[in-house]
Amino acid sequence: MEIQIWRELLDPYQLAVDELVVKFEHIIEEHNNKGLYSPIELVIGRVKSIDSILDKMYRKDISLGELEERIEDIAGIRITCQFVEDIDRVVEMIKKRSDMDVLQEKDYVSHMKSSGYRSYHMIISYVVNTMEGPKEIHAEIQIRTLAMDFWATIEHSLQYKYKDNIPDHIQKKLIDASEAIIVLDRAMSDVRDEIMDAQNTNKIRENLIKDILNNIQNLYKVANKGEVSRIQEEFYKVYLTEDMGKLQHFSRQLDVIAEGFQAQSL
Ligand code: GTP
Ligand code: MG
Repeated sequence: MEIQIWRELLDPYQLAVDELVVKFEHIIEEHNNKGLYSPIELVIGRVKSIDSILDKMYRKDISLGELEERIEDIAGIRITCQFVEDIDRVVEMIKKRSDMDVLQEKDYVSHMKSSGYRSYHMIISYVVNTMEGPKEIHAEIQIRTLAMDFWATIEHSLQYKYKDNIPDHIQKKLIDASEAIIVLDRAMSDVRDEIMDAQNTNKIRENLIKDILNNIQNLYKVANKGEVSRIQEEFYKVYLTEDMGKLQHFSRQLDVIAEGFQAQSL
């Protein structure tokens, strides 16, 4: 097939990947803005290379006409989470969305593959709008923890090195490592509440500081410069104490001042 035809075929898949990445990244953003812990840590997307598509067509005896129906990972999204519990939250979020239809699920988190691979897979149907009109696309979403992702990345490199014939003794080491990942993820879950508390506090603090700086900046436009300078100095003092209570109190006071100047919405 000519390269131009490949481009035309893959173009809607690129659009799907771009849109999906934006949508999942926005979930992180929404959580951040609300000062909440996000179950999604990182999102990446890719369109399968022509080389890998040809390889898969050959391996699975897929004709050109069947390509879009039978190769479900031309558009691929990978979502990494901090904790195993987050995987379920992400799965539920995807199921609730009106813009994605779940066609298939594979739970290799509870049912590890013989290689030691663990991840939650979903095949979704997703509609993109092209010049020719709406087009339904299949995309594969892989959801896993950072630790599972670490394992899969290393194992993938080894598969590449040994051309899918990893020697038995290395295979065994990989399975041991995979068991260790289960233990590690479990240990991390045990300290999850503590970590989440710390992360939430940090986000609340960040948002609070953002609000305060925004208010001060706006006050510069309307209030007496000397007065705003004094407020700014006062803020630095409170900021350096690293005391959340004082910061919250300062922010509330500043809100009242800004309200007086109607400076909040500037
Ligand atoms: P393909 O493996 O894509 O031919 O289709 P399948 O129907 O067997 O799907 P499966 O869910 O097994 O795998 C889909 C994808 O998951 C693969 O393309 C890989 O990206 C990933 N994957 C599956 N098994 C492994 C594994 O043992 N190691 C690693 N590193 N990745 C895997
Ligand atoms: Mg496979």
